[in-house]
Amino acid sequence: MSNYPTLKEAYNQAGQGQVFRFFDRLNEVSRKRLLEQASEVNLKELERLLQELVLNETKSESRPQSLQPAPFIAAPQHEGDSQAWAQAERLGAEALRDGRVAAFTVAGGQGTRLGFDGPKGTYPITPVKSKTLFQVFAEKILAASRRYETSIPWFIMTSEANHEQTIHFFLENEFFELGEMNCHFFKQGRMPAVDLNGKILLEAPDSIALSPDGHGGSLRALVRSGSLERMKEMGIDIISYFQVDNPLLRPIDPAFIGFHIEHGSQLSSKMVGKAFPQEKVGVFCLRDGNLEIIEYSDLPEKLLLETEPSTESLRYQAGSIAIHLLSRDFVLQVGGDDARFSLPFHRADKKVESLNSEGRPVMPDSPNGIKFEMFVFDALQFANNPIVVETLREEEFSPVKNAAGVDSAQSCRQDQLRQWTRWLKTAGVNISTDETGLPEFAFEISPLFADSEKTFLEKWSLLEVKPNIREGMYLE
Ligand code: UTP
Repeated sequence: MSNYPTLKEAYNQAGQGQVFRFFDRLNEVSRKRLLEQASEVNLKELERLLQELVLNETKSESRPQSLQPAPFIAAPQHEGDSQAWAQAERLGAEALRDGRVAAFTVAGGQGTRLGFDGPKGTYPITPVKSKTLFQVFAEKILAASRRYETSIPWFIMTSEANHEQTIHFFLENEFFELGEMNCHFFKQGRMPAVDLNGKILLEAPDSIALSPDGHGGSLRALVRSGSLERMKEMGIDIISYFQVDNPLLRPIDPAFIGFHIEHGSQLSSKMVGKAFPQEKVGVFCLRDGNLEIIEYSDLPEKLLLETEPSTESLRYQAGSIAIHLLSRDFVLQVGGDDARFSLPFHRADKKVESLNSEGRPVMPDSPNGIKFEMFVFDALQFANNPIVVETLREEEFSPVKNAAGVDSAQSCRQDQLRQWTRWLKTAGVNISTDETGLPEFAFEISPLFADSEKTFLEKWSLLEVKPNIREGMYLE
């Protein structure tokens, strides 16, 4: 409690004295809670953001004439160079065997659109066994660890709101055979929400409206939590970054890793061709020759719709699916305290449940507050030799974002079924499907049996007795 006078003074000086408005009425426990939260906020950083993004908001100038589509390494299925892919795969496999790669999941989000009560990673997603998102990733990491005869460490970023529950879930599930020592959890930072005049909002008399600082916050959280240092001790220099919501992806992809090494890249990214012009994914572009991702909402409509004259395909087609490889030294640079390399914050206007000046709760029906978030892809501007590598949408991209419809659990389960059906058909199994490739019944293939078409074909060919593919079948 001894820091109260100093903190109160600092908040008064910053014009944020309202944070302690109800302090005198609070009991000891509540006072302690508020003081802890108040010390977590970096008032200097907040003041800078208020100046830049709230009080003197200046629209960043858009210079569409300097934009070009970004080059990318095409997938072998799309006329990419198969030999180069095979070579990259060998190089990546070597790095994996040498223990240079860690898996890294950002799982600190609030998952408001899905509306699931609990950490998103604990959401059941597979069509027969109802394995959770975390279990699917765990089994893919385990499969890769066995293949490359190593123990691939898995770092998981949580947030204040879901940290304890996440750890409890892993304990309950005995770390999915990965071994407790190979699973590392750390929390991301939080930022206060402010009202439209830049005043910090309270969500309760003893509590600031704090929320996670965005997936871009993962870079400084890796540094601040000591995780990056731990990676260094383990000999890890490549971090395989992915989101918690996309169970189709390959958390460990040797060819992607190989290209990253070959190009001396500090930040590599996967892309898929956009499904349609208005698809809500960021697009890889070159602005003045520098690689960046432009949010779909920031790309002028003319460019969004522009097609290549020869092929009629979209000119700005390289959609980001939030899968990256980061070099450890690069994370140290952009996640550290050097202001020249810090990621910018973005402003998001949101409905924030908070207290009014009389201390009564307000349930807004339109945005009444501003949150600040960092985006991981903003690190591209600081990276040496960044590359973009194509993957196939049907093999690696089916995020669970919404409770129903597009990008929902249902669409994701269907995409898993389509994937396994394609693998089986390539192996010569006859399965009847609708015109989208969806079979008439649900079955499941464990990542421990196969985690890609290639591994599936190998494993399948070795089966002396091939199972009958029918409703509820599970192949492990
Ligand atoms: P989303 O942008 O989909 O946000 O996160 P969200 O919070 O999960 O969901 P909504 O928008 O509230 O519905 C993409 C990925 O980034 C992680 C999420 O956990 C997810 O894996 N993320 C997002 C964080 O780890 N921290 C954040 O502050 C934000």
